[in-house]
Amino acid sequence: MIGRLNHVAIAVPDLAAGIALYRDTLGAKVSAPQALPEHGVTVVFVDLPNTRVELLEPLGEGSPIAKFLEANPAGGMHHICYEVSDIRASAAQLEAKGARILGDGEPKIGAHGNPVLFLHPKDFSGTLVELEEV
Ligand code: CO
Repeated sequence: MIGRLNHVAIAVPDLAAGIALYRDTLGAKVSAPQALPEHGVTVVFVDLPNTRVELLEPLGEGSPIAKFLEANPAGGMHHICYEVSDIRASAAQLEAKGARILGDGEPKIGAHGNPVLFLHPKDFSGTLVELEEV
């Protein structure tokens, strides 16, 4: 069902510092910051030859990554995103196998303009999994 690794996401307390780390220290190409109020985060993407890294900073009150950063003040790996070709069909298959979809179960539009869903980390080896329809 799952296809390519789309990105690995890292939550950071300071996006400017995260950008500087990836652009200046690691020498990678980093996109312009993009505010996603519906997701409560501001993101950038680090382009690598075989995949991307997403850096996430909290945006607004009640950001879904605020608690994560309280527990991990230096930042840390937050989720991994796999590509699927039909997100509703994938969600139905996963639910039939007992996996839990976060939120109301309806796909939201993610940073790339594609539908995304998040799967419960307790059902996936302690890792928050994002599915993106590509
Ligand atoms: Co993501």
